[in-house]
Amino acid sequence: MSSTKTPSSTLSPPVLKSLKLNSSGLGQATPKPLSPKLASPKLSFSLGETITKPSLKPAVWSPSTTPLVLVKRESETHDSMSFTFAAADQALFDFKPGQFVTLAVKIENKTHYRAYSISSAPQQKQLRLTIKRVPDGLVSNWLADNLSIGDSLSALNIAGQFNSSDCKHKSKLLLISAGCGITPVMSIAKTLLAHNSDADIEFLHCARDKDNVIFHDEMQTLLTQYSNFKVQLLLENSDGFATFSANNNTNEKTNEKTNSRALSHQTGMVSADVIRQLYPDLNQRTIFLCGPVGFMKAVENIAQESDFDMANFFQESFTPAADNKQQDQISSGATETSVMLHVPDFAVEAEVIQGSLLLDALEKHGVPVIGACRAGVCGSCKCKVTKGSVTSTSTETLTEEDVEQGFVLACSSTLKDDVTVALS
Ligand code: FES
Repeated sequence: MSSTKTPSSTLSPPVLKSLKLNSSGLGQATPKPLSPKLASPKLSFSLGETITKPSLKPAVWSPSTTPLVLVKRESETHDSMSFTFAAADQALFDFKPGQFVTLAVKIENKTHYRAYSISSAPQQKQLRLTIKRVPDGLVSNWLADNLSIGDSLSALNIAGQFNSSDCKHKSKLLLISAGCGITPVMSIAKTLLAHNSDADIEFLHCARDKDNVIFHDEMQTLLTQYSNFKVQLLLENSDGFATFSANNNTNEKTNEKTNSRALSHQTGMVSADVIRQLYPDLNQRTIFLCGPVGFMKAVENIAQESDFDMANFFQESFTPAADNKQQDQISSGATETSVMLHVPDFAVEAEVIQGSLLLDALEKHGVPVIGACRAGVCGSCKCKVTKGSVTSTSTETLTEEDVEQGFVLACSSTLKDDVTVALS
């Protein structure tokens, strides 16, 4: 795939008009666009008064008022696809690199909310989401099969604590991803490269084989643009991939020196040996990590065993667009004992199985709770247990005060006994 291509369908930018003040002080539009950079903050008025000039800052997209319009869709691998959106009002997308957007997708008259990591850089007029099909997944597969250029979608918010703005980091970084976990990490890489010329960025991406490497061409392009960027691919199976040594960039098939900026790759799985061999200066770096849960646990263990300072270790706690998988795993702890679920605001009094996921139980009984990430990271399913108790595996977006007051994340909480719940 190539992200550098011009979108097949784009919308024209808004025209910024300067205001020329006449002697009465009334504004009059002039036809020539004025660059925001050239605009001075104040204008002297002919009668000697100083007035504040209206702001010419570009509008920022607001999910609550403006839908997203699909302007481009492109295949990344056999089971993943990038969707590029523009705001219907041509606003800029303002977010922190690494964050996700929660989409509201209507399928057969029911709205489903799902969180997807953003793979583009912020402060642009286009927003790219890269989505992987999920076996038996509802929303991801529906988007891949049905969303066409010109279609619009609503969104709830942009959020996420895994981002390179809030997570304090060193100028030396190691970005690690696997599979579709590359999505937020690519946004971080592109933003840092564009704005931090002193950054020293190593990127380790793991995949099954070359055909499953998302953003392969885009990484190659970044390599040729930025000398402070290095990429290492770690492939379980590298058949059919010209073999480059990780260290000396020699093509082993032709024995010729290759472009020193070519993508390097090794065959294998992530391990302490591989990490030590590739990154002898590991402890001088900040790590940003995203991928499947087992992969992230393995990397976390390697870091801990290497005496890595975990204050410099940041990971995204969910694989974007996991649809209902994690929810099913949490629900599998359910027993056959029944407990009562009360939701007075929606007149719900229902018998449910002890150990059920609270989010499942609420949805099943028609309570309009929003479960966007379904993995305890977005906060959209926050609700209050006013009586009874639940067992929670994540309180990630809740404050200590929230927890004291009984707030829980429904997607990460199972029912222990009879509970009474309020949505806010
Ligand atoms: S659905 Fe995102 S935290 Fe529960």
